[in-house]
Amino acid sequence: MKAVVLVGGFGSRLRPLTIDVPKQMIPVVGVTMLERVLRHLRSHGVDEVVLALGYLPDVFQEAFPGGESMGVKLCYSVESEPLDTAGAVRLAVDTAQIDSTFLVVNGDILSSFNLSNLVKFHRKSKGMATIALTPVDDPSRFGVVVSDKQGRVHSFVEKPSLDNAPTNLINAGAYVFEPEALTSAQVGEPISMERLVFPELAKRRELFALEMPGYWIDAGTPASLLRVSLDILKGNIKGSDLSALQSATEILDPSVSMGSFISAEGSYVGKGCVFEGTVDVRNSILEGGVTICSGATVRDSVILPGAVVGEGALVDSSIVGHGAIVPAGSIVVNGSVVSRYAELAPGCQVVGERIPS
Ligand code: GTP
Repeated sequence: MKAVVLVGGFGSRLRPLTIDVPKQMIPVVGVTMLERVLRHLRSHGVDEVVLALGYLPDVFQEAFPGGESMGVKLCYSVESEPLDTAGAVRLAVDTAQIDSTFLVVNGDILSSFNLSNLVKFHRKSKGMATIALTPVDDPSRFGVVVSDKQGRVHSFVEKPSLDNAPTNLINAGAYVFEPEALTSAQVGEPISMERLVFPELAKRRELFALEMPGYWIDAGTPASLLRVSLDILKGNIKGSDLSALQSATEILDPSVSMGSFISAEGSYVGKGCVFEGTVDVRNSILEGGVTICSGATVRDSVILPGAVVGEGALVDSSIVGHGAIVPAGSIVVNGSVVSRYAELAPGCQVVGERIPS
């Protein structure tokens, strides 16, 4: 089966981490967000994926020169201007000549959904498209999907107030499509899935939806990226390939060079990390080649590849970007984000900020 993975957005909610790298190429506990999505698709019978590229397409193409990842064959559909979600899928269908039922997923959604069940339901209901739904506590930040007992979608309510929300089921960013669902749209035209394609299909009674049990997260904000990383680390995601990685990542890589005393409790420590002297690392993810200097403390945080946490520095509940330097004595806390290759001023205090803002 084929799938289209949408990875062309600007990732503005994750800036400055996405200034020169698309969010789907950011590592999430040892492998990139995209590789996690590909592995999930593979486990549900997808053997070919069209990556719908827009923002920084070369980064993807250079990362997978063999046109393959996680046992999935890759092909690329490159937009010269952003085509929005449905325009991107329309171009991908045309580029890859998709001519049978296919899956579409947002490349920033990590879930344990049983996509095989979604496809089965779609085939049974004989609609043109089927939306995966997930329940949320507060639907007022999302588009709510209203469907009947058979799953036929009747309407959409955009960002309802908590009191007026007809349901707490939202569009989870995973769909099954028939290729004909999009043929009325012109190739190369920007089109929104949520505002145009879905309402039209619903009007024609050809749109279905299915509530999917399991873990779901939109990893497109610093807070959610941190949360999913820690959830994977702690094994909070049951019954999916997201948790299967856990057993492999718990192991402290033997190439880590150790200092005199280490506390790396419940942490993921990637290849080539260096602990210089006595460090205190708890409940955190250190991607490859990270250096933690003597007396530094890292808690509930993600430190991306090659970053350095200087002597006596504290990083808590924050993300430190690729190759960034947190100098000696600095403090980075409360959901802060330090961009790739940023070099903070020695002894600075970053509290709940994005650097550069
Ligand atoms: P923000 O800028 O932070 O809102 O993120 P985004 O636009 O990158 O992502 P959003 O959550 O709005 O989009 C959902 C998915 O669709 C993400 O995986 C995006 O990469 C992707 N996407 C959004 N717009 C486009 C587009 O115009 N073309 C393509 N190919 N993908 C898109």
